[in-house]
Amino acid sequence: MEGVLPHRAAQLLGEARRVVIFTGAGMSAESGVPTFRDDLTGLWARFDAQQLATAEAFRTDPDLVWGWYEWRRARVRRAEPNSGHLAITTIESRIPGSTVITQNVDDLHERAGTQAVIHLHGSLFTPRCGTAAAHPATFPDPPDGEPAEPHEGRRISPPRCAYCRAPVRPGVVWFGEALPEAALTAAVEAATACDVLLTVGTSGVVYPAAAIPQIAARSGATVIQVNPQPTPLDRIAAINLRGTAAQVLSTLVATAWR
Ligand code: OAD
Repeated sequence: MEGVLPHRAAQLLGEARRVVIFTGAGMSAESGVPTFRDDLTGLWARFDAQQLATAEAFRTDPDLVWGWYEWRRARVRRAEPNSGHLAITTIESRIPGSTVITQNVDDLHERAGTQAVIHLHGSLFTPRCGTAAAHPATFPDPPDGEPAEPHEGRRISPPRCAYCRAPVRPGVVWFGEALPEAALTAAVEAATACDVLLTVGTSGVVYPAAAIPQIAARSGATVIQVNPQPTPLDRIAAINLRGTAAQVLSTLVATAWR
């Protein structure tokens, strides 16, 4: 934390009536889920987003795309929430007017005990039909003899929609796609009304999600950032806590309500 004790941040949190916790991939890094843009370890350093995370990619090679998301889903299922996720549930229980908004497609906030998470970029666990009808779908049981976990790079044919037989797609937002409207509206409302916004583990470069902390700042909230690295959000953050999500959030909560 570069010697920055989060006393002022803890005080602001302890006094807040409405808090938004806005999270990105760094939130789950200490659970073993890779981020996107970290050098070497980030998914976009190792994989081509254009071949894996666009509607065009899914049309061109559905087995490659479905297999990659099944690999990611398997990694998340193996992961456990870290002490940062748990600290967020403490914030929620101390401040009933709290809202968790995440860009993450994992379910680690939910598994830590957070009730109503706003998922701006969808979820690895809500597959749907790939047509505009977006019929909800379920994951098929793995056939006998299949390895329990798909390995990296394995191609898997997506299941077919039970209603229209179209290939089922992951329930995530791909590049070039709109965010789920209800989630975005709820996120903007929460950001407009909060007095503290805690932004955790996001590079703050993907819009419109990255506008959420800016909306809070413009509406008069104090923005507190938790990230080991500088980001474009540094300049709107009143306090920058340079450390990891698990480290800083645990200390923050322990200091705010000791
Ligand atoms: P990024 O990979 O862009 O950024 C992760 C951030 O987490 C970086 O700023 C890191 O410095 C920070 N970080 C790394 N380890 C950390 C730790 N242990 N604790 C706290 N912070 C840590 O991920 P996002 O900002 O979430 O979009 O990326 C935004 C969107 O880009 C994602 O939702 C995804 C991606 O393309 C979609 O899937 C639509």
